[in-house]
Amino acid sequence: MMASDLSKTVDISYQPVGRFEDKRYEKMHTEIFPNSSIASIAVAEEIAALIRNKAERGEMAILGLATGSSPIKVYAELIRMHNEEGLSFRNVVSFNLDEYYGLKKEHRQSYWYFMQENLFGHVDILPENINLPSGMVDPEQLNQFCIDYELKIKSYGGLDFQLLGIGRTGHIGFNEPGSHRKSTTRLITLDHLTRSDAAGDFAGLDNVPRKAITMGVGTIMKANRIIMLSWGDKKAEVTRDMIEGEITGELPASFLQDHHNVTVLVDEAASAEIKRIKTPWLVGPVHWDEDLIRKAVVWLAEKESKPVLKLTDRDYNDNGMSSLIALEGSAYDLNIRMFNYLSDTITGWPGGKPNADDSRRPERAEPSKKRVLVFSPHPDDDVISMGGTLQRLAKQGHEVHVVYQTSGNIAVADHDALRFAEFALQFKAISDEDAGSKFYEKAIEMIKNKSENEVEPVELRKIKGLIRRGEAIAATRYCGIKDEFVHYLDMPFYDTGKAKKSPLSDADIKLVADIMEDIKPHQIFAAGDLADPHGTHKVCLDAIFASLAKLKNKAFMKECYVWLYRGAWQEWDVNDIEMAVPISPEELSRKRKAIFFHQSQKDGVMFQGSDHREFWQRSEDRNRGTADLYDKLGLPEYEAIEAFKRYKF
Ligand code: F6R
Repeated sequence: MMASDLSKTVDISYQPVGRFEDKRYEKMHTEIFPNSSIASIAVAEEIAALIRNKAERGEMAILGLATGSSPIKVYAELIRMHNEEGLSFRNVVSFNLDEYYGLKKEHRQSYWYFMQENLFGHVDILPENINLPSGMVDPEQLNQFCIDYELKIKSYGGLDFQLLGIGRTGHIGFNEPGSHRKSTTRLITLDHLTRSDAAGDFAGLDNVPRKAITMGVGTIMKANRIIMLSWGDKKAEVTRDMIEGEITGELPASFLQDHHNVTVLVDEAASAEIKRIKTPWLVGPVHWDEDLIRKAVVWLAEKESKPVLKLTDRDYNDNGMSSLIALEGSAYDLNIRMFNYLSDTITGWPGGKPNADDSRRPERAEPSKKRVLVFSPHPDDDVISMGGTLQRLAKQGHEVHVVYQTSGNIAVADHDALRFAEFALQFKAISDEDAGSKFYEKAIEMIKNKSENEVEPVELRKIKGLIRRGEAIAATRYCGIKDEFVHYLDMPFYDTGKAKKSPLSDADIKLVADIMEDIKPHQIFAAGDLADPHGTHKVCLDAIFASLAKLKNKAFMKECYVWLYRGAWQEWDVNDIEMAVPISPEELSRKRKAIFFHQSQKDGVMFQGSDHREFWQRSEDRNRGTADLYDKLGLPEYEAIEAFKRYKF
């Protein structure tokens, strides 16, 4: 893995998914991995090799460490190596990149706290060897503090290794756009986008600090070896700009192009915009399989602003696809084949059309009445992502079950919980049925005296969970689903009382597998957010995949189709869609009303992110957008379309 002589430039021999050899547009050594777990193990191995090599020579390993979601799995693997393989951190000196200004060490969101929770608290690093900028330095001492941090790194001979994540502004450390190539440790004002990305962890944008102390770009660039991690589709664009764009202070991560020994590790989702993945035919020779052909034809039609049937041989030849035309014979044949494929994805019968020839339809005709299991990670993903399809399935007579995987309680604001608790208390008082449990009085006290930092008390979580249950049942009822077919799993991984969730456990998987076995569905719909590396949707999906693997030999499973919808934030690319369900104007307006039932998630939700539209707006924009794309490709024009991709297990 690693050269034994550390004075030499180190290069790692990862075994990535490189689908195409040609990386000519990439200005940095980039490796793409199928997922962040595999990539994180490779990084941990390199760090462990460095630590061991240094230990053999009686030297200290000087590590620059990062926080945030990106390095979590690297740290988890290092902890495993410490526990199971005897990896010692006694010869490690660490320097963290940054800290929020104004946060005490003990604050749950401080980077000091993060490092204790995710690494230092679980390994044998000596406390005196841990260095982190302090968020509480006096303004008058700040300048000297930053100089001292730099001098301390220098006194160890500089960083042997620096781990980095990339922010969506293109920051490294907290060096936001505008940072100088030679900048050193200093106080910086955080960009709005960086703060809104952190808003979820801080339970609202208002609680996110405005400033941070960060190592400078110059400090980072002096490290002997740098590894940059980039996971998830939200990082796809900034990752492309860092790797393929020009070097600019507007995207500080691009300065890394000048580093002599940097590797960027990217998972598949974050690689989506890189040229060799997005448009490989523009980079070099490609192997044309059906997926790639579809991707290329849709891309070409969009680029040329033409319907598929109007693409010409010349369009293909001018855009790096002459080998495709050679393979297919002519643009004419290829266009018709692709047009038919796309038309066949459209169906108004998401549960299959009874008594119809189903040989070219996405779903089977038989059985004509299906048992349908719709998994919804949070209590509103079902209506947001497939509210129109849900209405059709119910109207077409299928037995539709909706299963809410988590309580969604963390996303309910205290003021809503207070409103409900006060209402319940007054209601009890007038109905004179108070059981004397003081449940609501206790809850009201708790909400009023709650400190920002603490884990949400159980009572409060219960009220918030009930709020979401009430909203969910109102919405499903409105879509035509029977009350007895609405199920709540309250998967335990979610219920930590804080934004950070526990890992998926057997207990979670059992809940999901049991309900599948109970209902024996002909169809399963699930949120297919494969890209989201840490979010609730991904964990919920992992539980479904694990359950499918467990049950795959059961007779009912062999007859079951699994359809993936995308969560609230994005849609499948047209070339990936295998079932497109048109939504009429009436259905769309009913869908909007169904989303409105989720009142606690309206008007500036707790986890808003940088997209300020409400859920119903995002959902409509997205469904109308898909319909518009189909229209532009030369297919029928609909008001809106909900899209699904089949998961074959
Ligand atoms: C963390 C840091 C930041 C993060 C970046 C990505 O110490 O300095 O640059 O690496 O914001 O954050 P995540 O990994 O949470 O997406």
